[in-house]
Amino acid sequence: MEKKLHAAAKHAFSRAYAPYSKFKVGAAILADDGKIYSGGNVENAAYPNGVCAETSAISAMVLGGAKKIRAIAVVAGGPKLVTPCGGCRQRIAEFADPETPVHVCGPEGLKTSFTIAELLPASFDKRNLKDKKPGLNPKRARSKTAK
Ligand code: THU
Repeated sequence: MEKKLHAAAKHAFSRAYAPYSKFKVGAAILADDGKIYSGGNVENAAYPNGVCAETSAISAMVLGGAKKIRAIAVVAGGPKLVTPCGGCRQRIAEFADPETPVHVCGPEGLKTSFTIAELLPASFDKRNLKDKKPGLNPKRARSKTAK
């Protein structure tokens, strides 16, 4: 993982607004235009209205004019791995390839990396909408028996 990507995610982590959960998260995307887009979680007194760091970073990327996520880094505190939530995995997949890396970090650096396909196997995506046939997307499906 590029140092610059971690630094951007760490900066977003420091700026995150998480007064309710007290759990700050920062994310940074290396996009197909070579630029880095970042975001932090932004909570709200009406709790469900908060947004995750990854979603904030994706919004910044789209509004910046980039089309694809080449890599994404997530920074959170504490000893446990903070991987993107289910909704954010789906949002990352929308703009990524199956092998796109998701770097899970602490403020000090990289903890471990996954591909988005590892975090979201057998996913639903736009190809499902085109086919209009129910069933798993063969490119993303792991099971040979899945139809
Ligand atoms: N959160 C993120 O921003 N990204 C993650 O990957 C996990 C969770 C946020 C949502 C909420 O503001 C806080 O962390 C606690 O769940």
